[in-house]
Amino acid sequence: MAKKQFLKVSYGGYYQEPVPPETADLTHVEKGSRAGELLRRYWQPVCLSEEVTELPKRERMFGEDLVVFRTTENKVAIVHRHCPHRGTSLEFGLCEKDGIRCCYHGWLIAPDGTILETPGDPPGSTLKDRLMHGAYPAMEYKGLIFGYFGPPEEMPEFPVYDSYDYPGDMMRPYSLQYPCNWLQVHENVMDPAHAVFLHTRITYSHFADAWGELPEMDFVETPTGMIYVTSRRWNENVWVRSNDIILPNQAQVGHIWEDGQQDLKEFSRVGITRWTTPVDNENCKVIGWRHFHPEVNSRGIGNPDLCGAEKVDFVGQDGYRTYEERQRVPGDFDAQVSQRPIARHALEHLTYCDKGVVMLRRLLMREIKKLEAQEPLSKSGVLSQGMIPTYCHDTVVEVPSKPQWDDDELVRRIGSDLTKIIVEGDYHATDDRLDQVRTRIQNYVKSVNAEAAE
Ligand code: FES
Ligand SMILES: [Fe+2]
Repeated sequence: MAKKQFLKVSYGGYYQEPVPPETADLTHVEKGSRAGELLRRYWQPVCLSEEVTELPKRERMFGEDLVVFRTTENKVAIVHRHCPHRGTSLEFGLCEKDGIRCCYHGWLIAPDGTILETPGDPPGSTLKDRLMHGAYPAMEYKGLIFGYFGPPEEMPEFPVYDSYDYPGDMMRPYSLQYPCNWLQVHENVMDPAHAVFLHTRITYSHFADAWGELPEMDFVETPTGMIYVTSRRWNENVWVRSNDIILPNQAQVGHIWEDGQQDLKEFSRVGITRWTTPVDNENCKVIGWRHFHPEVNSRGIGNPDLCGAEKVDFVGQDGYRTYEERQRVPGDFDAQVSQRPIARHALEHLTYCDKGVVMLRRLLMREIKKLEAQEPLSKSGVLSQGMIPTYCHDTVVEVPSKPQWDDDELVRRIGSDLTKIIVEGDYHATDDRLDQVRTRIQNYVKSVNAEAAE
């Protein structure tokens, strides 16, 4: 790799080197690309169930033009957009019991790509028996339509994580289009420093003032990918928060409006489960579920009615605000999309707070190399209540600062010890994992406070 430029000349714009190409290995998604091939080995959400009515929906994934439709028997299907006869888009087709019928000359195509009828042909024509249309396996799950875009013989089981069936939860599907590469949007989940600046100090507190406190930060590998660990002192409390990356392109985020002070909580779970799915090299979708359950939404600020196709219930996630508004109160969308259509890693000057981004890129490259070496991809081997445990959480514990201890050190230690409880240990494979983790955290906090009192 070329040496990174450190410009050292005042008014030296003239000496800035030209913009180098993007890191294609991690960003490009078309068929045959390294990251694209990795992402195609996983079930990917394509759109919301509610978007596919009796009319087909035009979509694009991995640089391929597609149509998603539903037969009149309610089977969802994902097929290449252009009819194999003479290329008319199947978005103008008619959904029938057995498939979709092209509007132009009536070819009938089944969800698996079988051509069932070519009605303009003379009886006895064997064309339809000699040709298939491009199709992908599709399924519907909790309001999202998923597709599998890899080789059919390698199709994995659909993995069910613990956040998909949480007691008292209402999962509200949502999706947002981002006109930029998928990786820079995905990386944001492992960039806790942006919450301090973009979401708090730069304009106003988008969520709560505690977010503006620069946390102790750590990044830890988990059986499903990685987490960040942020630990902050907020008055008498220590607030520890982790977001999940579930490799390769899935993520989970904790309570959006956590303020570190209203309620004490141990291992409070997921506020958002989302994927960053590639549309093509320069476009992606953030798509997944907002979770609404009393535990992660204790102050009742979230609003399920504001979540759906092209909308979500917190500021700065889309490009629909006025340009002036976006300039005055920029959000995630504005920060990430404006990194360029594909962010240029060779121009970055990475620092301490980018450790999570660097680690995520490294894990993705590790998985790409495993795939290319035909080794099994990393996946969690643990189940609790039949689901794969995840690690995203907010924990707020009362541990006042102690005059005899360095407080930064104490906060860091609490973050690290809680993370061990949350990520390590045999009890993650038990059906009472949640209770076990919570009890262990409570006992740990008692022991820290008792130790300080000695
Ligand atoms: S173009 Fe589709 S049937 Fe002719
Ligand atoms: Fe953000």
